[in-house]
Amino acid sequence: MIGFFISKPITLYALITGASKGIGKAIAIELAAKKNNLLLIARSENLLKALAKDLADEFGIIADYLAVDLANADAGYAIYNWCVEKNYSINILVNNAGYGLNGLLDEYSLEEHLANMQVNINMPVALTYLFLPQLKKHPSYILNVCSGAAYQAVPGLNIYAASKAFLLSFSRGLRYELKNSNVSVTAVCPGATDTDFPNRANVTNAKAKKLAEKFNMSAKTVAVIALNGMFAKKPEVITGFVNKLSAFFAWLLPKSVLEKSAAGIYGLK
Ligand SMILES: NC(=O)c1ccc[n+]([C@@H]2O[C@H](COP(=O)([O-])OP(=O)(O)OC[C@H]3O[C@@H](n4cnc5c(N)ncnc54)[C@H](OP(=O)(O)O)[C@@H]3O)[C@@H](O)[C@H]2O)c1
Repeated sequence: MIGFFISKPITLYALITGASKGIGKAIAIELAAKKNNLLLIARSENLLKALAKDLADEFGIIADYLAVDLANADAGYAIYNWCVEKNYSINILVNNAGYGLNGLLDEYSLEEHLANMQVNINMPVALTYLFLPQLKKHPSYILNVCSGAAYQAVPGLNIYAASKAFLLSFSRGLRYELKNSNVSVTAVCPGATDTDFPNRANVTNAKAKKLAEKFNMSAKTVAVIALNGMFAKKPEVITGFVNKLSAFFAWLLPKSVLEKSAAGIYGLK
């Protein structure tokens, strides 16, 4: 007897870091509305649990979560091993978790800076590396949430801007390396967005707060623009006209002028 098998379609997930709040949460909601199953990652277990339940109920998707501190060096392995144990395969990886620390370099401990770089730089590289073999198996997307700060040095938010310049450069180089594969890589560079970011970064300067209030985009708008760019397989997306203009001036103006202006915004002389 000649037997044949009909293979069961594999269930795929979008894995989003920093999904408990802000832009990551907004991306999770938009992806759920497009019927993507979700794996939500951040530290705030209660927020992740509630979001996973709400999105599963509202959109009829499968949503699970893992509370993990991405500042831990082994967090990438913990996430990957959790997916292997649960038999979760992903076709979308959103490296969104990130934060800044406003102030001078020596106003924070070295440990605080290294933890910041672990979350903003090492974790996107680790997750990309670990999940790449399975991403290559089917049409897949990587979305790296960078920042307008990637386009220039920002005194007073220095490690943050440098980390986002790393992530943008990493995204573009990786995209080229993967050009003949199933995997598309998109970097999104938002400007000021109405989230918890300034609180986490300890931004107290009135000028920075005022500017943010004036130009803030909503997390939902940023998520929609980012995902449209990702699904259109764009290499680099800047959210909104004002932020595109800022990136243009960052390219055009002398670096010393840009740095002085940024320093003023973040409370330095
Ligand atoms: N808001 C802006 O103006 C702006 C502009 C440009 C780019 N961005 C970028 O957008 C991304 C999202 O930030 P957001 O504005 O949405 O800020 P947010 O509201 O503070 O959200 C940050 C997310 O990252 C998670 N996160 C932070 N540290 C973590 C850690 N150690 N381990 C695990 N998860 C961690 C947070 O979850 P838990 O606290 O629950 O861990 C939260 O879900 C960041 O990469 C940020 O740099 C923001």
